[in-house]
Amino acid sequence: MNTDFSFAVSRRGFLVAAAGAAVSASLRPARASAVDERQIKVAPGQARFSGADGPSTAVWAYDGTIPGPILRLRQGEPVRITVENGLEEDTTVHWHGIRLPNAMDGVPGLTQPPIKPGESFVYEFTPPDAGTFWYHPHADSLVQLGRGLAGALIVEEREPVAVDRDLLWLLQDWRLASGGQIAAGFGSAMDAAMSGRVGNVVTINGRAPADLSVKAGERVRLRLANASLARMMALRFQGHSPVAIAIDGQPCDPHEPEGGRLVLAPAMRIDIVLDMQGDPGSRHAVIDDFYDGLAYTLTTLAYDAEPPLRAHPLDASLALPLNPLPAPDLANVVRQEIVLQGGMMGGGKLAGVGGMMGMATPGMHGGAAWAINGMSMTGDGHAGMAPQFTLERGATCHLTMRNETAWWHPMHVHGFSMLVLSRNGSPVPHRQWQDTVLLAPKDIIECAFVADNPGDWMLHCHVADHQMAGLMTVFRVN
Ligand code: C2O
Ligand code: CU
Ligand code: CU
Repeated sequence: MNTDFSFAVSRRGFLVAAAGAAVSASLRPARASAVDERQIKVAPGQARFSGADGPSTAVWAYDGTIPGPILRLRQGEPVRITVENGLEEDTTVHWHGIRLPNAMDGVPGLTQPPIKPGESFVYEFTPPDAGTFWYHPHADSLVQLGRGLAGALIVEEREPVAVDRDLLWLLQDWRLASGGQIAAGFGSAMDAAMSGRVGNVVTINGRAPADLSVKAGERVRLRLANASLARMMALRFQGHSPVAIAIDGQPCDPHEPEGGRLVLAPAMRIDIVLDMQGDPGSRHAVIDDFYDGLAYTLTTLAYDAEPPLRAHPLDASLALPLNPLPAPDLANVVRQEIVLQGGMMGGGKLAGVGGMMGMATPGMHGGAAWAINGMSMTGDGHAGMAPQFTLERGATCHLTMRNETAWWHPMHVHGFSMLVLSRNGSPVPHRQWQDTVLLAPKDIIECAFVADNPGDWMLHCHVADHQMAGLMTVFRVN
């Protein structure tokens, strides 16, 4: 035994040192370089949604690609991401769904100064949870997201999951004018007060969807992420039975969704496992039928002619390892309620809205169209937004969200994941934690989370027009 190491060294330090002088010489820098360093540049660019030979569309892009590069991070390992702003307007990056320090949350004014043109900002955090997340701007959100700024952020499980392929579909919806350019008219009063800027072209990973070629017998993990401004989706895989294994990045009890329909509102993610049980050579449509009478085929699963990879589906468990989410203490909660108000046909609930009308950002034609608890916070987030409620650190918040409007709203909480307890009085099964909870018109949702992360946090509808036009609030954790 080498007695030089008899003083207190960590087991790890000992093993590394014992491995040889060459390694120990690099020990100190190794600590710094253990931080995963990344760089992203935000700038105008061009995209070709229909392939290399198709027309090109002027977009705004992360590192020149639509969607932005997939950031693959490791659970529990620190990352440092330098974002450089090559746009002619301010931007920020929000790491949607990641539980991180408030100062890294990317809300201009509220959690950081905006990144000015030509400047950079360094984001540093350690993702505590494995799963499917995404990143996008939180400045001029409607326009920047609508011009293409979005990318997937995948935090890998510590142990790989037993599947044959791990695929991602980052779904985006574009409103293109004739000529293939992004249509003007962001923030029209009609979009703002109704269903938001729903587009006319849907892409998967930045391309007009082609067939997805699959092999009989294979097991695929498919990460679905809806990065649209406003388009809700409900996907059905004809002839297949997808099993949901995670929602908004958080593992749930594996289950087949009701009617085999995967409802994905803007900002939501669902990870599914698909056992490819079709016959070699067969074809199966993937249909989005969210909007009545407007169903369309998103893409097609096209089996190759090879014989099945295996005779029976894998019997490996579908359950993902759980993330270290703090368990709500449901016997001892602080109750808060938010009421969503406004919109067309909303019964005139906006009459007498107080507060922050003057904060409408230039370029918003409509001003406030929505409110939360009678208050309209418009735009993207600002210094001095008064919190709607304050929670003591460590308290379990029992949050009721009541939709008094005639519209659908995916309500998103920054900094936390919420355990969804009930919908309209019925318990929600399968242990669903979500950062974005979809409320149908008139829905009442109850959820709970532990306020373990101090700071001022956003809570807003992720239909970008709705957020900009007042469906946003802030709460504080002391
Ligand atoms: Cu992805 Cu404030 O949002
Ligand atoms: Cu978010
Ligand atoms: Cu909404």
